[in-house]
Amino acid sequence: MGAGWESQLLETGFLAIFLCPLWSLAQVPERCPPSLISIWTLRWLIVRIMLGAGLIKIRGDRCWRDLTCMDYHYETQPVPNPMSYYMHRSPWWFHRFETLSNHFIELIVPFFTFLGRRMCMVNGAVQILFQATLIVSGNLSFLNWLTIVPSLACFDDAALSFLFPSSEGGAKQLVSKIQREEAAGHAPLPSRGMLVRRVVNVALAVLIGYLSVPVVLNLLSSRQVMNTSFDPLRIVNTYGAFGSITKERTEVVFQGTLSTDPQDPAAVWEEYQFMCKPGDVTRRPCLISPYHYRLDWLMWFAAFQTYEQNEWVIQIAGRLLANDSTVLSLIQHNPFQGRGTPRWIRGEHFRYRFSDPWGRSAAQGKWWIRKRLGAYFPPLDLAGLRKYFQSRGWPHPDIY
Ligand SMILES: *[C@@H]1O[C@H](CO)[C@@H](O)[C@H](O)[C@H]1NC(C)=O
Repeated sequence: MGAGWESQLLETGFLAIFLCPLWSLAQVPERCPPSLISIWTLRWLIVRIMLGAGLIKIRGDRCWRDLTCMDYHYETQPVPNPMSYYMHRSPWWFHRFETLSNHFIELIVPFFTFLGRRMCMVNGAVQILFQATLIVSGNLSFLNWLTIVPSLACFDDAALSFLFPSSEGGAKQLVSKIQREEAAGHAPLPSRGMLVRRVVNVALAVLIGYLSVPVVLNLLSSRQVMNTSFDPLRIVNTYGAFGSITKERTEVVFQGTLSTDPQDPAAVWEEYQFMCKPGDVTRRPCLISPYHYRLDWLMWFAAFQTYEQNEWVIQIAGRLLANDSTVLSLIQHNPFQGRGTPRWIRGEHFRYRFSDPWGRSAAQGKWWIRKRLGAYFPPLDLAGLRKYFQSRGWPHPDIY
């Protein structure tokens, strides 16, 4: 999908390789802690993630500068959760405060990493708290969970040992054993494995430094690009999305009918429901973090473009007409289950708003209030699709 969390997963995974000893398979290698170099590559990652995210915002959209973005974010984010519904109703001054805090956390706090042990830990703690807030207030796939991982590198063993009470004694014993050996004057010479590891770590530092050059230039550039990598292996990437915030939520709703004439005003159009994304207005927003449904996510993008820009939407309509079990498995509710297949499918375009939690609609069980904007794509049947495919010179799947 080319989403930011995918390259971030690649980068975090690559850096994690170097936390482990080169030869040993031991879980907690004695006397072979991760080198400072690999710890710093992870700290450098969290600094870049945050600065990228912060800079693209203040460059991307006025609402980040006049502090109104959070007035929209909860309602218009790709897949809101039940908390988003209530957070959306926070007072205006709280949304201003949230936006300002966001800037502080993304643009100022990352620099704490370079101000000594204590400030580095403050950065780690703030970033983890920030990600936890995002996890609670929306479904942003595993991105926030993944961002916690490099934040952990801001803490050292002494700061984290309280989490592992049983190993604390062991660690102390190990330290005193090493100290005794050193005092006795026969500290062991570094083994060949340790030497190889040092060479590998220095090479890693050089590689990350070299690959970071275009990333830093991009951060400094006034035309910063979002979520991009500059090397084919995606080892060091640039992050940052949501530079501009959509102010209105729109949705594409697939509807089908068993009627033979789609123009017949008496035709009954029934709606397909996706796994998680808003559709039926009475359905509670879902909770899916740390997972996500890729189709739902892509439908969010499709909704503020046209079907000509997202021709796969037409392919999905075709698969629904053809009763394709693979595509039907990607959605939650097929209204024609057990009743045959629809003759026509159409895509309708709606604007969605959260209902007022204390209003009349909410009392009727509605989480959303929607208004039809028009057709997203016109009614299609299998014959029409065949023509559509031919006009585009697309290969003609047997099912049509
Ligand atoms: C549609 O497919 C399902 C299984 O995927 C099957 O049970 C059903 O009978 C099919 N409906 C029609 C009308 O072919």
